[in-house]
Formats: sequence, structure tokens, C-alpha cells
Amino acid sequence: MKNTTFKNGDPIPQLGLGTWRSEPSEAYRAVKEALRIGYRHIDCAAIYGNEKEVGQALRDSFREGIVRREELFVTSKLWNSHHAPQDVEPAIRQTLSDLGLDYVDLYLIHWPAAQGAEAEWQRTNQETWRALETLYLDGLVRAIGVSNFKPHHLEPLMDAADILPMVDQIELHPGCNQEVTREFCNRHDIVVEAWSPLGSGRVLENQLLIDIAASYGCTVAQLCIRWCLQRRAIPLPKSTDAGRISENARVFWFDITDEDLQRIDELDPLGQSGLDPDTIDF
Ligand code: A2P
Repeated sequence: MKNTTFKNGDPIPQLGLGTWRSEPSEAYRAVKEALRIGYRHIDCAAIYGNEKEVGQALRDSFREGIVRREELFVTSKLWNSHHAPQDVEPAIRQTLSDLGLDYVDLYLIHWPAAQGAEAEWQRTNQETWRALETLYLDGLVRAIGVSNFKPHHLEPLMDAADILPMVDQIELHPGCNQEVTREFCNRHDIVVEAWSPLGSGRVLENQLLIDIAASYGCTVAQLCIRWCLQRRAIPLPKSTDAGRISENARVFWFDITDEDLQRIDELDPLGQSGLDPDTIDF
């Protein structure tokens, strides 16, 4: 699998396995299978409640010689209950202990402090970011970024930052094309990652996507993943099924034409999670 590069020059594999909503025992099997067939990028988070099982799958895969640590890219995310600067290092240490790793390749603030819920949301984001910068300088994390940040969350954070965010992981799929945030990130050299690139399965029945996929001889899931790649984002499809894990990685044999990309861009809102970073109450 090919790499994209961060602004600091480090590589990041251009497609990864999502683990949100993978039951712990399923997560173990999914990660092992994904590594076996060539995935080198696993997207995790403390809140998913399965980092111990993911860690067991990583350890077993190292032991069985399937992959070496240095070939692997592992992401985790700081949960919303740990935005206070003094809570950040304990959170990453817990994640590292659960994953059985000395470092993660990328650590993200999972959600911004919600504008609708917190008067001091900008300052909270800035202070949390400072604590992530310290983790980066201390070598506990190899890259730092954010998730679910819109430009109005990123701007004040970047104004106060010494190290600029390398990634913004956002909900991105046909029917949720996030043009404004993607353009902002492209302009600032922030790599965009796509969570729920299949709209958590909610876009797969759309007739336009079915017709376009048929014209390429790919599945709708592959079309969605390929659309993310051609829109310069790193897709993180979640699956716990061996066949679908393999299907989702077989997306490098075709190109979507500019015309079809645009038809997909222009889909009406479809399959969105409804989670708005300005109003979330968790
Ligand atoms: P499963 O884990 O049983 O494969 P997203 O990554 O957008 O959140 O989508 C994940 C959802 O889509 C899960 O319900 C997953 O179920 C399903 N899924 C993943 N890959 C495919 C695929 N290739 N075809 C159909 N459904 C898929």
C-alpha cells in the first residue's frame, strides 16, 4: 500500500482499517486479518473500548512475523473527558499500555471542545493542543493532529500553536463531501482522513452510486473509498468481515473520471451521522 507524507516528511499509508464499533473480540480478528493481507495502518481510539484487543492482535502479529512495528502506522485519539492539559499524558499512557506500544504514529484530539456547550471552547482547544505538542516533543507520539475540527476550530488552535496539526480526521463520504474543511486543510498542508467513508453503510443503496460503480465493475464500497482517495483523503473503512476487509483495500486498479467525481461531489446530503462538532453533548 502506498504512502502519503506529512508536512514533517514522515510517511502515512494512504488507506487504513477503522475500528469504531468493532466489538472487542471482532476487533482482534479484524486487525489480525487486515495485517495478514497487507494493511499497515490501523485507526483506533480510547473511546472505542477495544484498544486492548487491538493491542493483542498487534503483539500476536509481531510474534508471528506478519509485520514489524516499524512497518506499521497506528493512530489513537484523546477522548473528550481528557481535554484538561494534566489529563493528556495519563490518557496516552493508558492507550500505549492497552495497545502494548512504546509510541503511536499519530495522536488526535478526538473532538473539539463544543462551541455550543463550552464558553471557553477556543482556549480549551489551545491548551489541549499544547499538551499534545509536549507528547510529540517527548516522542510518545510521532505525529499530532485533530479530528472533527472545522476551519473555525482549527484557526484559533493554529494561531496559538508552535507545531501545526498534521491531520484532520473528519466524517467524509459521498453525500458528506466536506468541501470547505478539505479546502482549508489542503491550503494548510493538513492531511485529511475520512472516517465512515461508507457513511457507515448508509450510502451503499444509493442508485447513482450503484450505477457509477457498475460502470467501473467495482462495488459501491470500493467506489466510495476510491472517491476519498481521489479527493486527497485517507479512507479508514471499518469492517470485521474478512471478505469486506479485503474488498475495501482493492481500490488501486481503477480511476474515477473527473466527471464522475463531480457527480459524486454533487450528491444531496446522504448517510450523514448527524454528529456536529459544535453541538455534540458527549
Ligand atoms: P462489517 O463490519 O460487517 O463489514 P464505515 O467505515 O463507513 O463506518 O462503514 C462501516 C460499516 O459498513 C459497517 O457496518 C461494515 O460492516 C460495513 N461495511 C464495511 N465494508 C463494507 C463493504 N465492502 N460492503 C458492505 N458493507 C461494508
